[in-house]
Amino acid sequence: MEKFIINGGNKLYGSVKLQGSKNSILPILAATAVTGKVSILHNCPRLSDVEAALKILRHIGCKTQRHGHTVIVDSTGADGCEIPENLMREMRSSIIFLGALLARFGKAKLTAPGGCEIGLRPIDLHLAALRSMGACITETGGVLECDCPRGLSGRQITLNFPSVGATENIILAAIGAKGETVITNAAREPEIIDLAEYLNKCGVSVVGAGQSVIRITGRERLYNAEHRIIPDRIVASTLMAGVACAGGKICIKDAVREHLAPVISVFETAGCEISFANGEMSVESRGRPRRVKFLRTMPYPGFPTDSQALFMAVAARADGTSVVSEKIFENRFRHVPELVKMGADIRVEDCCVAVVEGVECLHGARVSACDLRGGSALAVAAMGAKGQTILENIYHIDRGCESFETVFRGLGADIIRTRRSGV
Ligand code: EPZ
Repeated sequence: MEKFIINGGNKLYGSVKLQGSKNSILPILAATAVTGKVSILHNCPRLSDVEAALKILRHIGCKTQRHGHTVIVDSTGADGCEIPENLMREMRSSIIFLGALLARFGKAKLTAPGGCEIGLRPIDLHLAALRSMGACITETGGVLECDCPRGLSGRQITLNFPSVGATENIILAAIGAKGETVITNAAREPEIIDLAEYLNKCGVSVVGAGQSVIRITGRERLYNAEHRIIPDRIVASTLMAGVACAGGKICIKDAVREHLAPVISVFETAGCEISFANGEMSVESRGRPRRVKFLRTMPYPGFPTDSQALFMAVAARADGTSVVSEKIFENRFRHVPELVKMGADIRVEDCCVAVVEGVECLHGARVSACDLRGGSALAVAAMGAKGQTILENIYHIDRGCESFETVFRGLGADIIRTRRSGV
């Protein structure tokens, strides 16, 4: 299995262009299956999750091409509404195809995604909403069989939690529904806005994305569309954590200030100097990070759960005690024991509160990535640690960060990817 070998101690300097957003391109790729037209998507990152989504699209009869960071999907000939288990398993969030298949074909058969490293990942909100729109969904042995005997109808749907995936699935299903669908307590993440902007280019009417109430009216006839995926705000926070851990000063091109507002505020409290000019975000960190008394993860526009592990890598070296409350996922502290192997002093109280006593310096160790963001956090912690770290299971990182080691090596980090066994 591939590993990263990281020798800590190098400060980070230079500039880097932010990749396109994984959590934006995935629902938009699912949406391309609905249009029956050609979609040209720019700024599409090279990620294993994106490749998995493209495999699913080809499996249902779409044609896909990639030219650099541009992906073209032609769903004119799409005719399949079943996704086999092996393809569902490859990508955690493949449930997003359910709404798209129902909108396009009025039926679908796929494996329930099941849990993952960070939690049980239930889909009750997705299924309840789709059933209220007219979908008949049976679950037998983990397989979801769905059809819409009377088609899909627009509904007033209130989510009891602003679930990102459920919001996206409802939007996609609503494209194929008769009448208007209104989502109340919708997720407000920037990726929802990006999905809506793409769909409006296709001829769908999506109004209110980014707010708590979104109105969607489907159209019989949809159009070809060309769209540029927004930058990845979580990878931006990964780069910010790298500088905060290792020190130095970097410029991040394409970072969107509004998307990063909660993260910027926390990293400034931790001692980073952050400024924006000419479409670039400058992040500088000198000396030891300052502690952040209390951090709670929240739905957007709160501090993102996906940046929690990255913040913890910084807090592990801070000049005091930071308390982290993970309010979104029930098992999102799996990076803690790995950080402790590097000398961090962190204790987890019940499942969702971590008390981080900052230490002067972390040291290299053999550690293992347990999930995408936890693995990224270990890598940036290693850049600021003394000595060598060997990070295993880095396939998790490849799901969401394009060319992780190339990007950070370009900023001066001593990091290589190896396939050698026995390292
Ligand atoms: C999306 O996951 C993101 N993934 C996640 O990013 C992100 O952490 C999450 O939103 C929150 O922002 C993609 O966009 C591909 P949710 P999603 O539905 O849609 C509960 C990463 O690292 N819930 O908003 O699965 C759920 O258990 C990934 O890039 C239900 O109870 O997140 C969780 O506690 C990780 N029932 C909370 O809501 C449901 O039917 C948030 O889940 C659905 C969700």
